[in-house]
Amino acid sequence: MTSLAFVKKAVAEKAKDHVWPHQLPWTVQAEDDGLTIFESGKNSTLTDVHGKEYLDGISGLWVVNVGHGRVEIAEAMAEQAKKLAYVSAVGFTNEPAAHLAHKLSEITPGDLSRSYMVSGGSEAVETAIKIAKQVQAMRGFPRRYKVIARRGSYHGMTHGAMSLTASREEKWFGPFMYGVSHVPAPNHYRNDFGLEGEAGDIMAAKYVEQEIINQGPETVACVIGEPVSSAAGIHVPSPKYWQMLREICDRHGVILIADEVINGFGRTGTMFCMEQMGATPDIMTVAKGLTSGYMPMGAAIASPKIFAEFENQPEISMGHLLTFGGHAVAAAAALKNIEIMEEENLVQRGAEMGVYLREQLEGLRSHPSVGDVRGIGLLQGIEVVKNKEKKTPLNKTDKFCTELGKKVFEKGLVTRTWNIVHFAPPLVVTTDEIDRMVAIVDEALTETEREFQHEIEG
Ligand SMILES: Cc1ncc(COP(=O)(O)O)c(C=O)c1O
Repeated sequence: MTSLAFVKKAVAEKAKDHVWPHQLPWTVQAEDDGLTIFESGKNSTLTDVHGKEYLDGISGLWVVNVGHGRVEIAEAMAEQAKKLAYVSAVGFTNEPAAHLAHKLSEITPGDLSRSYMVSGGSEAVETAIKIAKQVQAMRGFPRRYKVIARRGSYHGMTHGAMSLTASREEKWFGPFMYGVSHVPAPNHYRNDFGLEGEAGDIMAAKYVEQEIINQGPETVACVIGEPVSSAAGIHVPSPKYWQMLREICDRHGVILIADEVINGFGRTGTMFCMEQMGATPDIMTVAKGLTSGYMPMGAAIASPKIFAEFENQPEISMGHLLTFGGHAVAAAAALKNIEIMEEENLVQRGAEMGVYLREQLEGLRSHPSVGDVRGIGLLQGIEVVKNKEKKTPLNKTDKFCTELGKKVFEKGLVTRTWNIVHFAPPLVVTTDEIDRMVAIVDEALTETEREFQHEIEG
């Protein structure tokens, strides 16, 4: 064994014996090389410790919007770390955090203008729901504590955020945060109401109003949803849905939260997806693309109407505190990340690449297992099904899906392959890379359909 191979083997052993990876079953981790260790990245390409290259079809985890290996961001972080890495978020802030809060007020939709900075998406969601509850109480409605979320949605895995997440696991973690209910979400493929297109979205919005009325409006603090939910299957609602939610929330004194943790920073073809929905939430949560993953950071960004309660009752502050909120190095990374997006016109580029990607994905519809192709911008996916005509769903644990996932990865594409194969590459992806990503999935589908014919009814 060469000395390099020896070093790599030692790293693999350390990882196998001591890293607790997120959501990887031991059956996989226990295998040799079951846990892939990446070493470097450039634009849309990742390289593992053995030198094998992969296309990054999901930007890490819908994160690395400006692409891997951005030296400019690394330099901005180093400069800030040398000057001042950390100062308490309690009662103080720092220069890059101030510049970032100002920048976010400029680029976010409508009048959103007050950023509570945190370390990631779950914390941003925790912060947003706590702001909603405290603001309702400060407005004189202490009984407004309930939260309405949507079926299929994902809002994080800390306890409060997980309570809103549809796939929360009662058997391990229940009971969850009290007062959360889940309502149907827009779905143009298998509509809960048997209605097509916008008609189904309108019914889903009306359902939210019914839920508020059923719960008792005087008990409801907020409604939360992702503008386009990746977890719920990348169904793109008509803007009417979000405009109706805006009106419904206003009618009942309910705070509207848009979770743009995945959608934000160019992922859907505009800087924020709510721009396309034509409605401004009271609070928006962001993370992931905020720094493109160069540092962990998130934020809950509120409108003046929300923050007004703290101006009108100036002796009261938010009952919230996170040691790493507004971290100076993370803020410097976010600022440089946004600067790159603007200078390189990456939002527009992402929109154009999204159109190209979609055109290529449409070609996969001819596969007997591909039931639907859908998405927005560079947030696209194909749904594999048991029976195309009946739209019979496959389960993510069905052999067809797990084997498809294995093949896609072996062929050199990193993405999430459950019953939906996700395509969310960095905004810098090229047409050639898109062609290669689609070709890998095309080939993997053909092989899986051949080997697991019995799971597919065609
Ligand atoms: C819409 C949405 N909200 C919140 C989160 C939680 O973010 P994090 O994993 O950074 O805590 C995620 C993570 O994927 C997400 O997709």
